[in-house]
Amino acid sequence: MAYTLLVRHCGQLLTLAGGPAGRPLAGPAMSAWRIINDGYVACEGGQIVAVGSMQELDVTQVTAGTAIVEGHGRVVMPGLVECHTHLVFGGNRSHEFQRKLAGESYLDILASGGGILSTVRATRAASEEHLLANALHHLAGFRHYGVTTVEAKSGYGLDRETELGLVRVAGTAGHRQEVRVVRTFLGAHVVPPEYKGRGADYLHFLATEVLPALHGVAEFVDIFCEEGAFSVEEAQVYLQTARKQGFKLKIHAEQLHDLGGCEMAAALGATSIDHCDYLSPEAAARIAERTAGQTVAVLLPLVPLFLRQEKYAPGRQFIDAGLPVAVSTDFNPGSCPSKNLWLALTMACLKMGLTPMEALAAVTLNAAWAIGQEQECGSLEPGKRADILLLKVPTYEEVPYWLGENPVHEVIIGGVRVER
Ligand code: NIG
Ligand code: FE
Repeated sequence: MAYTLLVRHCGQLLTLAGGPAGRPLAGPAMSAWRIINDGYVACEGGQIVAVGSMQELDVTQVTAGTAIVEGHGRVVMPGLVECHTHLVFGGNRSHEFQRKLAGESYLDILASGGGILSTVRATRAASEEHLLANALHHLAGFRHYGVTTVEAKSGYGLDRETELGLVRVAGTAGHRQEVRVVRTFLGAHVVPPEYKGRGADYLHFLATEVLPALHGVAEFVDIFCEEGAFSVEEAQVYLQTARKQGFKLKIHAEQLHDLGGCEMAAALGATSIDHCDYLSPEAAARIAERTAGQTVAVLLPLVPLFLRQEKYAPGRQFIDAGLPVAVSTDFNPGSCPSKNLWLALTMACLKMGLTPMEALAAVTLNAAWAIGQEQECGSLEPGKRADILLLKVPTYEEVPYWLGENPVHEVIIGGVRVER
């Protein structure tokens, strides 16, 4: 079969290929992946079938039926993978922005019945049609930034019907447009008002009455382990039960305090540990060793920025300790109302000490690992889905440099050029 799509004369083709097989990029491998100058990517149907330099192109496969995309010396790279979002919610929290500016903390606002609980009220009051329209609007925003796969968490329903509805909406939204959606159940976000003071009972209810309805629907189960949410002990019991039911695991931990949630979840085989602002480099080294580099730390640098906090995860030290690192926005109405993964990438360089090559790996291949999509996306290699970005810049060094800009010129998802 001839090539159906050929992206040619790519100034720098960022393949993200060449790392160790079978695990996420870690340590020096995070910046040792292959860049091809004057490269091409060839696709058949929705898949990449060949990648190389223009001299290596097999011209016999290029026919009148091959759609040609001219690279014009641009950077060409894999579609961005956004591995941590709270995509589906009602309302917004602009009214709390003033309170935050006046000095109230994230946990103070939550303790007063606001924060996540305010979004829970707005979400419960919204119709599924309305939530779907909002989710599609946000997915269009992600597509505009060149995000081609998005992880979407539930977590603003906190009752059986609303939570199942949020997971359903995420799935429908994924099918209504091109960006792929991977679903995570975060019913264990905070304790709902109906269970106030009875966090363990709420988790038992989730494990026995909600998780069984999510088999084959949500891939991951997540929990917010923090003061004002769930303790390490509660999270451990819940995640163990979820694992027994066949779900892959994630955790929100060490966001505001060092409680030990990341180490606990990693020991249970969690696919990712997310936030990690208060995770120590020593604990990171223990996690890297214990999990043989399989658990990915998902760093969310726009969250401390938006919550006016000084403490950012020590990403440099995590990488030096051998812990694989991914970067995400954490898009949600409370701690990061931004879908700009490029800005998160730049902030990971500025505030967490990542190099540009490490940061690019963190929003592509390692982000794919963080959501179990490493066979599908995250790099430009034969066999992967043809999710490809053409950027406006000629070198990868310019990607983190243009602070807050969107460098995307064109987006290809599954071998098809998409409208943005
Ligand atoms: O990842 N930290 C907990 N959950 C989200 C924020 C949710 C919200 O504030 O609405 C987070 O930051
Ligand atoms: Fe989050």
